[in-house]
Amino acid sequence: MSRPAAHAHISPTDRTLNVSSPNAARIHHYLLGGRNHFASDRAAAENLLKVAPWMRDAVVDSRRFLERAVSYTVAELGISQFVDMGCGLPAQDNVHQIAQEADPAARVVYVDNNPLVGVHARATLDRNDARVSVVEHDVRDVDGLLADETLRSLISWTDPIVVCLTAVLDFVDKPAAIIDTLWKKLPQDSVVIFASLCSDGLNPSEIAQMRRVYTKADAGLYIRSGKAIRTLFDGRWDWQSPGLGPVRTWRPISDVQSQAIKAGFLGGVTSPLRRPI
Ligand SMILES: C[S@@+](CC[C@H](N)C(=O)[O-])C[C@H]1O[C@@H](n2cnc3c(N)ncnc32)[C@H](O)[C@@H]1O
Repeated sequence: MSRPAAHAHISPTDRTLNVSSPNAARIHHYLLGGRNHFASDRAAAENLLKVAPWMRDAVVDSRRFLERAVSYTVAELGISQFVDMGCGLPAQDNVHQIAQEADPAARVVYVDNNPLVGVHARATLDRNDARVSVVEHDVRDVDGLLADETLRSLISWTDPIVVCLTAVLDFVDKPAAIIDTLWKKLPQDSVVIFASLCSDGLNPSEIAQMRRVYTKADAGLYIRSGKAIRTLFDGRWDWQSPGLGPVRTWRPISDVQSQAIKAGFLGGVTSPLRRPI
């Protein structure tokens, strides 16, 4: 179903803006076909596409995966509260819109460490919608985030939670501590919707050139092998069918999505296997 575009146009006078430097959130938004970007972002994204022409398909695939996974967690698992970590600029279809289609009472906390994302998310959201809020926080401080008052006022810690971690750990150098904390702290029957860029199929020169684009955007890019991604979850997390794999092949709606691309995101829906004592 098509929804009204969830865009609030960025004003170049916004004080959170530096339009002369590219920004990782806006590069992603440009690749997704959004409107909120500037010449510096477009130039960086086009440089990225020169090195990695598959990247536009990859980010679109990852976003479509997130949408399918959100619908799945509400419709199939009956979970209706979400924390979208590293949510990015508002897209055409955002987590709360998808979740509330399946359950109008679904609640969503959007989290990002980029102040600009917060400005846009707040401008886009219906301020009277008590089911949604925005928290500016760094996911590397996941303990602090989970204790945040705004988050706690919307998310019940006695019910299962869905944490969305899509296309964000690619910007985090030590993701294991985040996964570990989620494993320890998430309530019983919670799940993580996970997707991360995978280096399998890429050569070191391609990876280095991609990293350079993001370094200029003031963001570290950490592309991990499939093995390294699996290791983050090994032994303590249970992947729901069909498991961790290329996001295109995760419960695709049509066969078209299962056509292969050179590289892309690995993803899946996973739950903590063992509860802390
Ligand atoms: C590539 S976008 C992904 C957006 C969205 N999750 C998606 O799947 O379409 C990455 C987002 O993560 C945010 N981000 C990167 N590092 C972060 C961190 N340490 N803490 C919180 N947000 C972060 C960026 O600001 C950006 O908005």
